[in-house]
Amino acid sequence: MSDTLRALLEARIARALTAAGAPDAPPVVQPAARPEFGDYQANGVMGAAKRLGRKPREMAEAVLAAAELDDIVEHAEIAGPGFINLTLASKVLIERVQALPESVLAPKAPAADAPRVVVDYPSPNLAKEMHVGHLRPTVIGDALARTLAHTGHEVIRQNHVGDWGTQFGMLLAYLREAFGDADVDTLEHEIGDLEDFYRKAKERFDEDSAFADRARATVVELQSGDEDCLAFWRRFIEVSLRHCDTLFERMNTTLSRSDVMGESAYNDDLAAVVEDLEQQGLLTESDGALCVFLEDFRAKDGKIAPLIVRKTDGGYLYATTDLAAIRHRVGHLRASRALYCVDARQSLHFRQVFAVARAAGFVDDTVSLEHMPFGTVLGDDGKPFKTRSGDVVKLSDLVDEAEDRAGALVNERQPDLDAATRASIARVVGLGAIKYADLSKSRTSDYVFSWNAMLAFEGNTAPYMQYAVSRIRSLFRRADVDPRTLEAAPSIAAPAERALALLLVRLPETLEQVVATGQPHLLCAHLYDIAVGFSTFYEQCPVLSASAPLREQRLVLAGLTEQTLTTGLGLLGIETLDRM
Ligand code: ARG
Repeated sequence: MSDTLRALLEARIARALTAAGAPDAPPVVQPAARPEFGDYQANGVMGAAKRLGRKPREMAEAVLAAAELDDIVEHAEIAGPGFINLTLASKVLIERVQALPESVLAPKAPAADAPRVVVDYPSPNLAKEMHVGHLRPTVIGDALARTLAHTGHEVIRQNHVGDWGTQFGMLLAYLREAFGDADVDTLEHEIGDLEDFYRKAKERFDEDSAFADRARATVVELQSGDEDCLAFWRRFIEVSLRHCDTLFERMNTTLSRSDVMGESAYNDDLAAVVEDLEQQGLLTESDGALCVFLEDFRAKDGKIAPLIVRKTDGGYLYATTDLAAIRHRVGHLRASRALYCVDARQSLHFRQVFAVARAAGFVDDTVSLEHMPFGTVLGDDGKPFKTRSGDVVKLSDLVDEAEDRAGALVNERQPDLDAATRASIARVVGLGAIKYADLSKSRTSDYVFSWNAMLAFEGNTAPYMQYAVSRIRSLFRRADVDPRTLEAAPSIAAPAERALALLLVRLPETLEQVVATGQPHLLCAHLYDIAVGFSTFYEQCPVLSASAPLREQRLVLAGLTEQTLTTGLGLLGIETLDRM
């Protein structure tokens, strides 16, 4: 059970609704739409009254009379057609603010029976280097994994890399031809640029039919487990994974090699998956291919979109591997929830795979399979983001450019800092900018990639958020106080103080929502509100010039704001700085 203020109020209002004759009516407690309305509002009475054919305001009165709120709420009143506005007791607010470091900001250790959640991300294809298309799964997946782990879930990262399939035939044939017996380190050096390697292999494939034949034969060898071929494959995969590792580390993601569970890992299970589908009576042969036709996927034209699990030539597909992965995740990893951070264009694929997994009994109702689709990163022209010459943008180039651009800004703003400090600030700001720009948009929408917008120091951007943190840290340096040694209760007497305190104690409600919906932008929006709330507080409530005990009470609020922003940004994979 959640112990957020909102959940607590919901429980009390629910009980009062029952007492007022509306059991099971949802209380619908939300943050108040405006500060004049108090801190929270319960909006459920109107719906309940309507269903029961009663007068909403009368019912609101009955609910309020029955509600036991005295220990939480200082003031409750009925407004409009039957809203109940609730203002928290100051004591409760202060207690909650003081408890923040242990209750919310410290990571919660998973209980023995904590929900086990698989997060599938970013799962690139290893035939090529990671590109701009992997920005979103990397950044979103990592934010979700961090937030789930922080809130006490057992998180199992699964990097479902594309390391199997036809394109490797071509790459391996080329590898054999060009770098026959080079070891991995040499190869890493030689290949350097995977894109280039892919292009050259493709050129050979297109121009030389003997090579193309060898490439096709190589796939067959690979899939039948030929040792020699596997040795080439392992070397290639290792080089490609090193590319990924370097980037993951640079991008401050929580992924490691042990999270890699590629398509190839399921190879031996694919025949069994198909056999099980057969036994469940789910397979239909269509032009020699084995398919599952589910009624749910009947289109307007009357035809059902099939899920193909085995091709005419006996080869298995992306979907077959995903079915095997589901069995592994549920059966072996014992996950009760699996989140797939994958492009929205794969929505149909996942709906079908999930439905087939359920129909086949690979998962039961206790397991939740969730595609967390995201939109496309667009260029200024509204088309998928490309380089000026129309090529795919490598993710590593994007990170380079972010650092360069942030570096230019830092040089301008802080010319007196030494070069190494400026470089490390540039790294944190540049990376933060790309991540935050992505995470702060609604996940399912496309967005236009704009350096100027993401590196602006004004508005809902990483530099603004990071600057807010640096500014509070500098306040403590000027005060010559370690925020962790302060013992005073925070001051919440002034409106700006109270508003800020309220935003801080509501953070766990937002974290719950992020966990439930997989939408990191909710966290960004909340943190932004906190940063803006701090700004207002700082304007209206002098801190360092206040006299005792107010000075310390305000410092406490500032210190907790700093900790909250730092923790919150950390959950998004964004670092903060002492100065910038
Ligand atoms: N490798 C795939 C791609 O690049 C994404 C895999 C996503 N995960 C999964 N379990 N299908 O499109």
